[in-house]
Amino acid sequence: MFPEVDRVLVSEDEIAQAVDELAVRLKKDYEEADLVLVAVLNGSIVFLADLIRKLPLRLTFDVIAASSYGSGTTSSGRVNILKELSLDIEGRDVLLIDDIFDTGLTLSAVLVYLEKKKPRSLKSCVLLNKQNPDRKSDLQPDYWCLDIENEFVVGYGLDYDSRYRNLPFLGVISGEAG
Ligand code: IMP
Ligand code: MG
Repeated sequence: MFPEVDRVLVSEDEIAQAVDELAVRLKKDYEEADLVLVAVLNGSIVFLADLIRKLPLRLTFDVIAASSYGSGTTSSGRVNILKELSLDIEGRDVLLIDDIFDTGLTLSAVLVYLEKKKPRSLKSCVLLNKQNPDRKSDLQPDYWCLDIENEFVVGYGLDYDSRYRNLPFLGVISGEAG
């Protein structure tokens, strides 16, 4: 069905299990909180949709858009907030949700943006923590589901040139062709 996909890196079942394990931790840590999940479009929506259905907590969520990438596979080095937050997060417990922590540029820029809105607590959570030796930031996400090597992955919300987000697994595509 997906001829360009070279190999499956993480299967649908393995992702589901990792998301389950994360949900158990979050349920414990946010039991008493006024939790607002803030998800970064577009890459994190599949993760967000699965995660919230495994979290038996009183929560709300909002989405924002940020861009650090052009259409290729390397970071442009700039982050713009393209869609602002709609909910008021002042005094609330915010958990930033993103698909992947690569150079850390996106997450650190969005954290600065959210901190200005005075949440009571602010933490970050990603599906994938990529072992990129060129990390631009000392920051680590507070929570993550899976560690991956430094290679470009698609599926489960992650894209190459806006495609492959609908793959139910995480895969590696052949070369730069996409
Ligand atoms: P960072 O700012 O370098 O941490 O990059 C974060 C953003 O880059 C993610 O939200 C993704 O949109 C994109 N990105 C980084 N690595 C990958 C990848 O392997 N596949 C797809 N998108 C990626
Ligand atoms: Mg992307």
